[in-house]
Amino acid sequence: MIQDIIYIAKEAGEIIRNAHGTQFNVEIKSGNIKNLVTEIDKKSEQRIIDFIQKKFPAHNILAEEGGKRKKHSDYLWVIDPLDGTTNFAHGLPIFSVSIGLQYKDETVASVVYDVMRDVVYSAEKGSGAFENDKRISVSSNRNIRESLLVTGFPYNVSENPERVFERFIEMLKIARAVRRLGSAAIDFCYVAKGFFDGFWEVYLNPWDICAGKLIVEEAGGVVTDFNNQPISIYNKTILATNRLIHQDMISILNKF
Ligand code: IPD
Ligand code: CA
Ligand code: CA
Repeated sequence: MIQDIIYIAKEAGEIIRNAHGTQFNVEIKSGNIKNLVTEIDKKSEQRIIDFIQKKFPAHNILAEEGGKRKKHSDYLWVIDPLDGTTNFAHGLPIFSVSIGLQYKDETVASVVYDVMRDVVYSAEKGSGAFENDKRISVSSNRNIRESLLVTGFPYNVSENPERVFERFIEMLKIARAVRRLGSAAIDFCYVAKGFFDGFWEVYLNPWDICAGKLIVEEAGGVVTDFNNQPISIYNKTILATNRLIHQDMISILNKF
């Protein structure tokens, strides 16, 4: 099935790439000026859902822009049709399509399409993680002081929920550098690829987590909450690392 997921992620990505740099409609979601949705998010989602409904009509679907289909199936597709909408709306070329497939509540296949780099990250449970056709693995860095980290901020960041500011400042002081790319799915994949040693964020949604989590795990990394507990896609708090700096990051996050 992974080939089907790659096919439709690339099709959706092409819609997004063709729209990049053109005029499109942008709306504010739930009255928060930080939270955007564009007509391209919706077109991408529609393309993916049409494909699934044609090819796998019995399957359940959970997609960010409202595409929920509850059938009596053990399969669930978890879809972020455009992860990095703020970047996309401003013309910044960092965004992705993220599709995870669950069977009986376990993610079994995942694809994140890094649209402007035209790179496919994929994983199937037990079969490793890939960048295009090449196997990838997490970094081998054990030293948090030499680490390159990434994070993101929720749309209610101004309220400083979960002490996001304090935690960010502490990581900035300790790590070599901290980035904020604006696409959680890409953040996971760049941990899997070894560009980043660790990624933490609060208030994520199932479609931000589902595909990326399996890709990190299949690349030899680990994904937990800030208490080192296993998470499902419905947990909001994630820490994804190369495994080697996991404890150090947990200690820092738990100072607050
Ligand atoms: C957002 C991105 C961002 C993260 C936000 C997400 P969207 O997704 O993944 O990196 O910090 O929490 O909501 O809205 O662009 O699909
Ligand atoms: Ca998202
Ligand atoms: Ca999205």
